[in-house]
Amino acid sequence: MTPHLPVEIAWEQLRSAAQDAKSRAYAPYSQHPVGAAALTSTGRIVSGCNVENASYGLTLCAECGLISELVKTSTTGSRETLIAFACVGPHPGPLLPCGRCRQLLMEHAHPSLLIDTERGPSLLIDLLPFAFGPEDLPHL
Ligand code: THU
Repeated sequence: MTPHLPVEIAWEQLRSAAQDAKSRAYAPYSQHPVGAAALTSTGRIVSGCNVENASYGLTLCAECGLISELVKTSTTGSRETLIAFACVGPHPGPLLPCGRCRQLLMEHAHPSLLIDTERGPSLLIDLLPFAFGPEDLPHL
C-alpha cells in the first residue's frame, strides 16, 4: 500500500513556481526552456530551470537544479522529501520528466510523490516502476 499524505496540493501555485523558474532557463541551443517546482514535506517549494551547454550532452535538466536546491537548502537533511511536482516547458500543459530525471526525483521522493500530468496527478512510482534505489546497494 502506498501511503497518501493528507494534504491538499495547490497545483496552480506549483505550476506558477515552475513558470517562474522557466523564465530563468538557459536554453539557447534547444530553445526549449523548462521550469520545475516541487512541494516538500516541510511545506517549502523548491524549483529549478534547465541549463544548457555548448557541449550539448552536458545539459542540466530543470529537475537537476530543483534537486540541487532541495539538498542545498534543506534544514532536515535527507528526511525532507518531495510530495508534489510540476514541470512546464514552452508548450501549454505539464511536461513529464525524462527518464533520468524520474530517477533523480525518486531518490528524494516521498513514497506517494505526485507528478502533474495532463491526465491529472500521477504517482512517480507508476511512472518509474521497479526502480533502482538505495536499497539495491548491498552495503547500505
Ligand atoms: N529538459 C528538462 O529540463 N527536463 C526534462 O525532464 C526533459 C528535458 C530540458 C533539457 C534540454 O535543455 C531541453 O529540455 C530539451 O531537451
